[in-house]
Amino acid sequence: MTTGQTRKPLTELDPAALDARIQQLEARHQQLQARKLKLDLTRGKPATEQLDLSNDLDGILKGDYRLADGSDARNYGGLRGIPEARQLGAELLGTRAEVVMAGGNSSLTLMYQIVTTALNNGLWGPGSSWRASTGGKPVRFLCPAPGYDRHFAICEALGIEMIPVDIGPDGPDVAQLTELVSADPTIKGIWCVPKYANPTGCTYSDEVVRGLAALPKSAGEHFLVLWDNAYAVHHLQSPGDELSDLMAAAEAAGTADQVVMFSSTSKITFAGAGVAFLASSENVLKQFERQLGFATIGPDKVNQLRHVRFLSGRIDEHMRQHAELVKPKFDAVLAQLQSDLAGLDIASWTEPRGGYFISFDCRPGLAREIVRLAGEAGVTLTPAGATWPYGKDPQDSNIRLAPTFPSLSDVEAATEVFTLCVELASARQLRAG
Ligand SMILES: Cc1ncc(COP(=O)(O)O)c(C=O)c1O
Repeated sequence: MTTGQTRKPLTELDPAALDARIQQLEARHQQLQARKLKLDLTRGKPATEQLDLSNDLDGILKGDYRLADGSDARNYGGLRGIPEARQLGAELLGTRAEVVMAGGNSSLTLMYQIVTTALNNGLWGPGSSWRASTGGKPVRFLCPAPGYDRHFAICEALGIEMIPVDIGPDGPDVAQLTELVSADPTIKGIWCVPKYANPTGCTYSDEVVRGLAALPKSAGEHFLVLWDNAYAVHHLQSPGDELSDLMAAAEAAGTADQVVMFSSTSKITFAGAGVAFLASSENVLKQFERQLGFATIGPDKVNQLRHVRFLSGRIDEHMRQHAELVKPKFDAVLAQLQSDLAGLDIASWTEPRGGYFISFDCRPGLAREIVRLAGEAGVTLTPAGATWPYGKDPQDSNIRLAPTFPSLSDVEAATEVFTLCVELASARQLRAG
């Protein structure tokens, strides 16, 4: 988290100096509006040049659809995915192929299916559904915040109540989590993005991973740790962060039936046309497979095989090429934040070592206003509040910046507008007292 120390804090300016500064900033804001910019810092998706890195997926099979076990990838069957793809998923998730299922194109779909199965059918045998075990009370989830809006949307769609919990540079506070789950058996799960978290960029420490593996022991029946390792290999520097193996820690703690890990190649190859993975205990995989079998005969094994042939043995090199494209954009945002806002005592932000986002915190009560001002000047930002359950940031202070998709020059132009809006909103708030 950077706060900077180089300029006179805005918080120390007297009213006359603040008025003068507000006038300058307003004039600049008006000039920017006249430029009719149309820039977008909202989309956490790969840029076209990143997608181009995987164009060799097309045609890579050259008519050879045989798997190592002699079967034909083009035909029906194999709910757990092809063994080769399960091995690839194990590499991404840092675990063993035996506990991995390779699925369709989206890990978010797998998360939704796991949660609905746990809620309605149970993942632990007959009568184990969350609905049954809460005796009609709403199921509740712990949600480290700021976090990933689509996790929160799954809960909201399914009527699962969300409890925001703190997240720091090493991950959530395990003592706080333990206290909460011990006191309330209707808390049935927690969302985690353990590496280069969306949006803070933090990677959970070994101690936090061990604490989360043990958490189900303090919770009511059938608590689930949902481990969304979406950014497992998305380093911005070398060497990348190391995340310790949750599954090994859960096996050691006797909680392997209560962790489910997810990942996908969405931001490795083609977003929307990749392969998703899930890992859990054999018990859970069997229960899940039973439900999945009502919905599909099997995943797209041809796409799985394409990914295996394309990525095997070269994930690191491929991700290095991604980083070459992505890092200059992160550097541009961070340099602009530093030069425009450092030392003003009005904001702080993360400096991620990987992933897709920078998490920015302004003075309480200003996030919505900053997003509005940026919108007036032609820069679309992720709506304030989106990183919190129910879209409600209690401090109205967090803004998620997503620099990967626009061109470098657009990222630079958008960040300049952003910092201006941050300073303008802050100066006006300080002046109003
Ligand atoms: C934390 C996280 N999980 C999952 C996803 C989506 O993954 P998929 O494309 O595999 O559904 C995203 C996409 O932004 C994400 O940030």
